Amino acid sequence: MTVPPQPSPPLPLRLPLETARLLLRAHRMSDLDDLVRFHGDPEVVRFVPWPVRDRAATEETLRVKLTQTELVAHGQWLVLAVEVRDTGRVIGEVLLKWASDRQGELGFALARDGQGQGYAAEAATAMLRLGFDGLGFHRITAVCIAENDASARLLGRLGFRQEARLVDNVHFKGAWATQLVFAMLEDEWRSSGRR
Ligand SMILES: CC(C)(COP(=O)(O)OP(=O)(O)OC[C@H]1O[C@@H](n2cnc3c(N)ncnc32)[C@H](O)[C@@H]1OP(=O)(O)O)[C@@H](O)C(=O)NCCC(=O)NCCS
Repeated sequence: MTVPPQPSPPLPLRLPLETARLLLRAHRMSDLDDLVRFHGDPEVVRFVPWPVRDRAATEETLRVKLTQTELVAHGQWLVLAVEVRDTGRVIGEVLLKWASDRQGELGFALARDGQGQGYAAEAATAMLRLGFDGLGFHRITAVCIAENDASARLLGRLGFRQEARLVDNVHFKGAWATQLVFAMLEDEWRSSGRR
């Protein structure tokens, strides 16, 4: 097996990413109305570390997202808007962290009316392709709260392996919560047929 060369900072990103139905691109200030729709939805934020946000709080977080367009240091998140190509609407976001040498972490959140259509799987697959094929990552992890069935199901469909169940590992939204840790290795990605 050929080991990809060790990437050195900054990692080379070619954006936007295009899929059959989606454009994964840097956020714009004009995305605010679309973001307000899901950042303020208690169902969407139930298992993510954000609070329910009003318009002002969403605008503040959008200003941060405008800067999260590159991977120049370990610990940094790339945060891309998930735009439906047919409508131009932003239905969610997909994230890839450069965790450490050749290690990444995946994240995703969709508006409620963007769910149940395979969009999250399509966006996440593009981010895995970016991580493994574009950036030479060896391993990508994902972590979810144990009760987040939709997220665990999606990770299973993507081909992640569950590696751990960390009981009461985090104090989350006012109570102790159990986390599931998932991972995928570059060989597993290459043999998944999802490339
Ligand atoms: C986690 C989350 C992104 C999963 O989204 P999702 O829409 O369920 O996932 P997918 O994109 O893979 O869609 C799969 C569903 O679409 C259906 N579907 C419809 N058309 C499809 C198509 N063309 N291709 C694939 N699936 C399709 C599938 O049957 C499946 O439905 P099911 O779950 O009822 O079996 C979403 O629940 C979410 O954003 N939750 C809130 C935020 C959150 O918790 N984020 C994760 C934190 S760890």
